[in-house]
Amino acid sequence: MSKKIAVLAGDGIGPEIINEALKVIACLRDDYGFAVELEEGLVGGVAYDKTGSPLPEETLDLVRHADSILLGAVGGPKWEPLDYSVRPERGLLGLRSELNLYANLRPALLYPELENASTLKPDVVSGLDIMIIRELTGGIYFGEPRGVRTLDNGERQGYNTLVYAESEVRRIAHNAFQIAAKRNRRLCSVDKANVLECTELWREVMIEVGKEYKDIELTHMYVDNAAMQLVRNPKQFDVMVTGNMFGDILSDCAAMLTGSIGMLPSASLDEAGKGMYEPIHGSAPDITGQGVANPLATILSVSMMLRYSFNEVELADRIEQAVDQALKNGLRTADIASDNTQIVSTSVMGDAVVSALR
Ligand code: IPM
Ligand code: MG
Repeated sequence: MSKKIAVLAGDGIGPEIINEALKVIACLRDDYGFAVELEEGLVGGVAYDKTGSPLPEETLDLVRHADSILLGAVGGPKWEPLDYSVRPERGLLGLRSELNLYANLRPALLYPELENASTLKPDVVSGLDIMIIRELTGGIYFGEPRGVRTLDNGERQGYNTLVYAESEVRRIAHNAFQIAAKRNRRLCSVDKANVLECTELWREVMIEVGKEYKDIELTHMYVDNAAMQLVRNPKQFDVMVTGNMFGDILSDCAAMLTGSIGMLPSASLDEAGKGMYEPIHGSAPDITGQGVANPLATILSVSMMLRYSFNEVELADRIEQAVDQALKNGLRTADIASDNTQIVSTSVMGDAVVSALR
């Protein structure tokens, strides 16, 4: 049975990077007999422009029937004046919550060729291999009540709510422990239990679930310290698990350890392992249309799709090796350039990965 992938390119550099990922998928189909059907849909600002909604019903229908989703990026200055309810970002958050994609996996892996692309000293980051697991459908991103209200004195007040039910913490905890079990068996849960009751409960539930995974070493860290430790000595971490907002922030931080946010893929999974795959970077309006964006995070997202949704481990490994080969050949997009490397365009980088894959 062929796999049906919904492709949502989105805004900004989204279409440019998705285009390169599609070359890789075409190669898997033509050269490796990977049976796949692609269907494109609208999300984000481009969807708003065409339909008045950043997540049209048609797109929801498409993704519900797909085996897997590949997403580019959403958002841009053009849509910033819009009401929150129809901002491009609502499209992305809507996809996450409608499909119940609560487990977000964000690996931060440093390719040896990119040691010099990081702003940190090579000895701090060489060999870096961290997995950040971010709860994606709860916490302050979705908590109610939320909004901006006017107080009795006429002043406006903005408010959001940080909430986690035990069951939400428990299920992401299980994902985290199980992933740690396949790695170096160390899990660090990140919270702010010294200040926020919600995350104190988070910690309690993590400890409780941890009793079922006796061979995993569970530690806890406050988020401020975790941010500091990530740049001080990132290699102390194996797997990190945290809530929605802390995970958003820490994963950008971890991304820069690897040289560029343009290198990091992600998977967002539901309870059955169905997933949406996207680079962790945004739509990069500043470089849109110039053909300079790094397509590797999106290509590596395809690799994660093969690994986590389709159980095609060998093909997933091959894509990663092909990315490695393109880097070994000295090709770099501008974001990861250093001495003695050749700066190439988005499409040349995509082609290089495809030829290495062949
Ligand atoms: C991410 C992004 C999104 C988030 C934005 C675009 C809504 O920053 O995936 O990390 O905050 O989750
Ligand atoms: Mg983010």
